[in-house]
Amino acid sequence: MEEGRDANVLSIHALTVGARQSAGARPLVDSLSFELRAGEALGLMGGSGSGKSLTALALMRLLPWPYLEIQSGQILWQDKDLSLISDTELALLRGRHIALLLQDAATALHPMRNVEQQLFQVFSYHASSASQDKSREKIESLLKAHGLSAKILQAYPHELSGGMRQRVLWVMARLLDPEILIADEATHALDASVQADVIEQLRGYLEVRSRALLLISHDIGFLAELCDRIMVLCGGRLVEEASLADLLHRPLHPYTQALLAAAPLEGRKGQRLFRAQASLQQPGLGCAFASACLHADRRCEQEAPPLLRLADGRRVACHRSEESGA
Ligand SMILES: Nc1ncnc2c1ncn2[C@@H]1O[C@H](COP(=O)(O)OP(=O)(O)O)[C@@H](O)[C@H]1O
Ligand SMILES: [Mg+2]
Repeated sequence: MEEGRDANVLSIHALTVGARQSAGARPLVDSLSFELRAGEALGLMGGSGSGKSLTALALMRLLPWPYLEIQSGQILWQDKDLSLISDTELALLRGRHIALLLQDAATALHPMRNVEQQLFQVFSYHASSASQDKSREKIESLLKAHGLSAKILQAYPHELSGGMRQRVLWVMARLLDPEILIADEATHALDASVQADVIEQLRGYLEVRSRALLLISHDIGFLAELCDRIMVLCGGRLVEEASLADLLHRPLHPYTQALLAAAPLEGRKGQRLFRAQASLQQPGLGCAFASACLHADRRCEQEAPPLLRLADGRRVACHRSEESGA
């Protein structure tokens, strides 16, 4: 084993996110625990509203204030708990060690500053960075790698297409060579050929030891290109985590099965595996998928299934797997 690989670069313990002053309400991200290891691309998948973006925002302490907050849990990075460190410490870390590409490329850029100003600003936040010349070199090489010409530097965000804005964000996120890159639906505005370039770029990014990717997407096709492991969120809870191969070939949770059936993968037919019009937004005490699950019984509605680790290392939270020991 190569040294440094498989070490945890980020450990999340029981991360819980909810609305402030919402005593008694179910959290929006509910006791989520996972490890991100050096050298890996970890996928976070789930339907709309499953808590993917809130997880990403919580990791970087960017939850919309004052509405949402981290209610409990730990985010461990190099022995520091990112949920507790000072704002100053956090500002030094963001971008330099951990970078986040936000889901919404349209609002992630400043509307009144051109691309050049916004890219150079990244360096100015981190004073110890390279000289002006080195910075320009770095910017230009990353622009090129993402299929953008240096002319784009003079453009303002409104002059760019959605795909170009998204690529500018990729460049911005990589300027300081962060060890951890978190990308939230960051390829959805890209056409297929540009998406393929970004995937190539990310493969290159991962070749440097000790780097890791957390890729968030509803699109298993994209995640399958890069990820070694996939986690599935439903109603803010982790319902399954497995290697890519296990997940694709033997999804255990009915929610994962439904997501995969809906995805145009390997010519699979869109077989119906869940009840239409069920709301996954306000699950009660039970499994977050219970109201839509074809296999659900009273127990599923009343009692949340525990997240079990199976013999092969995967994790699943479903009363049926619990019973069958699958
Ligand atoms: N600012 C907010 N205030 C209250 N609820 C929110 C807020 N932002 C998101 N939510 C709710 O949190 C849940 C998860 O949202 P999100 O993480 O954005 O989902 P997604 O998996 O689509 O990225 C959704 O039900 C959403 O309605
Ligand atoms: Mg989202």
